Amino acid sequence: MTTSSGLAGVIAGRSAIATVGSEDAGLTYRGYSIADLAANATYEEVAYLLIYNALPTRSQLEAYRSRLAGLRGLPDRLKTVLEQIPSGAHPMDVLRTGASMLGTLEPEGEGGRNPAAVADRLIASFGSMLLYWYRYTKRQERIDVESDEATVAGHFLRLLTGKKPDDLRRRALDVSLILYAEHEFNASTFTARTVTSTLADSYSAVTAAIGALRGPLHGGANEAAMELISQFDSAGAAEKAILHMLETKRLIMGFGHRVYKSGDPRSDIIKSWAKRLSEASGSMTNFNVAERMEQVMRREKNIFPNLDFYAAIAYNQCGIPTSMFTPVFVIARTAGWMAHVMEQRNDNRLIRPLSEYTGPAPRAYVPIDQRK
Ligand code: COA
Repeated sequence: MTTSSGLAGVIAGRSAIATVGSEDAGLTYRGYSIADLAANATYEEVAYLLIYNALPTRSQLEAYRSRLAGLRGLPDRLKTVLEQIPSGAHPMDVLRTGASMLGTLEPEGEGGRNPAAVADRLIASFGSMLLYWYRYTKRQERIDVESDEATVAGHFLRLLTGKKPDDLRRRALDVSLILYAEHEFNASTFTARTVTSTLADSYSAVTAAIGALRGPLHGGANEAAMELISQFDSAGAAEKAILHMLETKRLIMGFGHRVYKSGDPRSDIIKSWAKRLSEASGSMTNFNVAERMEQVMRREKNIFPNLDFYAAIAYNQCGIPTSMFTPVFVIARTAGWMAHVMEQRNDNRLIRPLSEYTGPAPRAYVPIDQRK
């Protein structure tokens, strides 16, 4: 038996949901290429595809959109909990708490709540939870979390600003949700599957997955990338700083990937949206800085940006606060997580690997009064 650091290169189960880095197919969700989905579909179509196994017909899509729109409201007891969370808390902790609390109020199984129903409820209400907390703690407003926006992206932007979002920003966010929706056995999805493999409920799987996504080596990279990019006021300053960071062996967040070694197929798609948004607003500094960082990383290390890098610029242009970038990823990825929860349940075996022991050799117990 061999040990794989970080489970790199280990095939840890079977899945019919996505191909990641496939030589023939690239990134696909249930056989559909990510480029086709990002160009033609909406996030709701993709979530439906992941959760219900097929692209919806027009009438199924309309019914799905109205079902999601009807699931945006928050129970009073959840609002009370959200109001108790400090204003300085990280928004990922708000969603982690919100998912967990909702699981106590609307448990899976009760009232016929199956995993697909839990998926729909969480996708529809995560934006409401986050922005209810945000507007309450930052601006002392108790907002109405319903909106007449048809889409998940539109609803999020509407609650964030209180105004009708423009089409460009709404569609940019929508495309980013498609790109973030699913990615095979990444750390958070594998966490969700591990929890599910113990026969625990879907809320526990999603709550644990949020915890796994929070760190900067995974979802948190989009926030860390923005913090870095926004430190520079010119491409030249960014180049100088990146060279210094590489010399001192620092990680540049938003670059590199465990599976993709010659480019993330999602990066160019989100980059084109980041560019369109920056041109539309007339503020190109962050984009120019980011593009120079990309060039330097390619030239010096042959390392490519991952989805998180240009998603950061796109979200910044959409007016989304940096600390909400990873929570937006949560909303999108809930579709993928829940598709994996259902797949794991359909062919379950407890996930329980082994470790290679590196501790002390067997030794005699030392009575407490003889210890030094
Ligand atoms: N900045 C600088 N160097 C990087 C790098 C980055 N973002 N990503 C990888 N490298 C370097 C590593 O230091 C290592 O160099 P070495 O061989 O001289 O030690 C080499 O590239 C291989 O990287 P490794 O750490 O083995 O890759 P991994 O598969 O274990 O890690 C990531 C993958 C994603 C965790 C890693 O690329 C990373 O930390 N990226 C930044 C965080 C990020 O953007 N995460 C989001 C992922 S979608």
